[in-house]
Amino acid sequence: MIDVISVLILSIWLMLPAYIANPAAALFGGGTPIDMGRNFSDNKRILGDGKTIRGLIIGSLCGAVVGLLQIALASNIAPYTHVSGYALTQASFIALLTMPVGALLGDMVKSFFKRRLGFDRGAMLPIADQLDFVAGAWALTLLLDYGWFTSNFTLAVIVTVLIITPVLHLGTNIVGFKLGKKKVPW
Ligand code: CTP
Ligand code: MG
Repeated sequence: MIDVISVLILSIWLMLPAYIANPAAALFGGGTPIDMGRNFSDNKRILGDGKTIRGLIIGSLCGAVVGLLQIALASNIAPYTHVSGYALTQASFIALLTMPVGALLGDMVKSFFKRRLGFDRGAMLPIADQLDFVAGAWALTLLLDYGWFTSNFTLAVIVTVLIITPVLHLGTNIVGFKLGKKKVPW
């Protein structure tokens, strides 16, 4: 049981900068869209109004700030968790950027394909909507901080993240919807 709990805590801990990026983009985003309102060759928007420059920048910054706080606080928090202090303090200044930036890039790639498939901004695309940012965060981190990724993301952590992320994602989006920050509860 302790093992399950420690993998759970460690998974959330490792994913936190990526997890923060999307809600922060939803809270503080808006304004000029990244595609500048332009259409792709199929005459549909490249990304759509849901992907904004401000969302990308502030979402990335919020994720990185959380990563910095985690590095600063890890040794104080570790004793209260079941996770060995060593695991929590395996910090990387590269990963605290690649996780949130990759998360939002993954979200943009998903929006690109959503538009090509003819889905309007905000339309639901199950699984892609929930795991786009995980794929983006992992891909960019694998690319730029391979050592950190492979030493922290064990098979148990990867499986845990794939199970808990859709649940956490739906939960935060329902809260965002109720707060009026999201147009749809997914
Ligand atoms: N957001 C933003 N900039 C980003 C990502 C998100 O401003 N780079 C904001 C937008 O206001 C967006 C909200 O966060 O509407 C929720 O994000 P998401 O669900 O990813 O966008 P959708 O509006 O659902 O658009 P899409 O169909 O393209 O996923
Ligand atoms: Mg959406």
